[in-house]
Amino acid sequence: MDHLLTAINCRNTEIKIASLKELKNVCEQCMACDLGKTRTSIVFSDGFAGAPVMLIGEAPGADEDATGIPFVGRAGQLLNQFLADAGLDRKKDLYICNTIKCRPPQNRIPTNEEKLACSAYLFGQISIIKPRIILLCGSTAAQTFINQEIKISTIRGKWLNIFEDIDVMAIFHPSYLLRNHSTEPGSPRWLMKKDLETVKNRLQEIDN
Ligand code: URA
Repeated sequence: MDHLLTAINCRNTEIKIASLKELKNVCEQCMACDLGKTRTSIVFSDGFAGAPVMLIGEAPGADEDATGIPFVGRAGQLLNQFLADAGLDRKKDLYICNTIKCRPPQNRIPTNEEKLACSAYLFGQISIIKPRIILLCGSTAAQTFINQEIKISTIRGKWLNIFEDIDVMAIFHPSYLLRNHSTEPGSPRWLMKKDLETVKNRLQEIDN
């Protein structure tokens, strides 16, 4: 029985990889907004197509634009550290992407028009990956799914009812944590640690 389940999971992952490849091919040609003119490369995703957790950040920065991989700069390195401390494996447990796939000039916040132009890729990724958990990393990602006024500090750490069959949680963005060094109880770094531990516990519940 275990062999059969493994075979089915492998087959599902193969299908997901094939569909993601098609979506990525379309995205690579995309000129739906002006960011297409200034990008070096699209930043489509990192991680595992069969991952139970999908993490959605804001937008690529300079390092991501140069490499085509999300969260590889200083913020990404801090994120990696928080994930590892919570026992989450970036390459196995997570599929990582952003609300938009091209870098906005000077790393400004993406406009609603840019987010709308890119939404087919993001929602395509969600429907192909079918994650059990979505982490909305930072205000831009949270505001994309909830509303424009939402404050990350008031909603982070709670399970949100946005999609049927997917547990959604907003978490702090690592760029914010780079500006806030304290690890005292109640500090943003302390809360991030707690939130990711909650995610790890939920994953263990799902696995059992
Ligand atoms: N910040 C983001 O939101 N996404 C990245 O990929 C990198 C930095």
